Amino acid sequence: MTLTLLLALACGPSPQPPGPLPSPGAASPSPASAADAVPPPPEDPHTVDARRRMVEQQLAARDITDPAVLAAMQAVPRQRFVPEASWSVAYHDGAAAIGWGQTISQPYIVAFMTQALQVEPGMKVLEIGTGSGYQAAVLSALGAHVYSIEIVPELAAWADGALRAAGFPVVQSSEGSAGAPLPGLGPVHLRTGDGYLGWPEAAPFDRILLTAAPDHVPPPLRDQLAVGGLLLLPLGGETEVQELVRLERGARGWREERLLPVRFVPMTGQAQQR
Ligand SMILES: C[S@@+](CC[C@H](N)C(=O)[O-])C[C@H]1O[C@@H](n2cnc3c(N)ncnc32)[C@H](O)[C@@H]1O
Repeated sequence: MTLTLLLALACGPSPQPPGPLPSPGAASPSPASAADAVPPPPEDPHTVDARRRMVEQQLAARDITDPAVLAAMQAVPRQRFVPEASWSVAYHDGAAAIGWGQTISQPYIVAFMTQALQVEPGMKVLEIGTGSGYQAAVLSALGAHVYSIEIVPELAAWADGALRAAGFPVVQSSEGSAGAPLPGLGPVHLRTGDGYLGWPEAAPFDRILLTAAPDHVPPPLRDQLAVGGLLLLPLGGETEVQELVRLERGARGWREERLLPVRFVPMTGQAQQR
């Protein structure tokens, strides 16, 4: 893949004008708690096949080699996380519009970030930028206990509905305990708000992932990472070339790796007030 292609497709601004999404509630009445999560209806074989091609041609043919990541990307029905207007491009090799000027990231970037996070079942993972809920679903499919924060209330509601409709065990922050997660899936805790401050009550996290780009590492997120943990984020201002940076918190300090040039939507809220 060329650098140009990667920069263009990572998670850029929405290629279409933002528009209202269909009401998540209309497609999937929200159950009261994770314990009420119901299995989704069987999938159309065409989408299963489209996903198999996505995994083979866009991921395995590049540098996604972790079998657990490839299996999670095959398992999660990506089309359920995009609005109807984007169904035809759900399995394309690029980002897709999800409304409110935001995008669901390119499948390759989701897989690359997930692989770089080195997630093990049972790990606590904080995601900043729930967006469509797709990345949270992939982490849940890896057995992680996911905590995800979205600043746009309408998108937070969309992700909640999409995750539940696809059979993921969602817990709203006001609902309390996750109950028993579905077999193999980690619970997904959702919260609406500014992710800059993290989720202090649930800290420390084994992994922290940002899917919107700040121009500095938010100090509260550093503080909420466990010793030995990894923090992955696209770093850079709106007019700069951003880089995907992985920070490892050691007992005696931090180690930083610059993994990939990328283009993500900016982190909004407090990140822009410094
Ligand atoms: C590229 S999209 C996320 C893609 C998402 N992970 C997915 O799987 O669809 C970035 C998201 O970050 C959200 N965001 C931006 N700044 C934020 C902040 N300060 N706190 C929480 N979410 C934020 C945006 O509203 C947007 O939904």
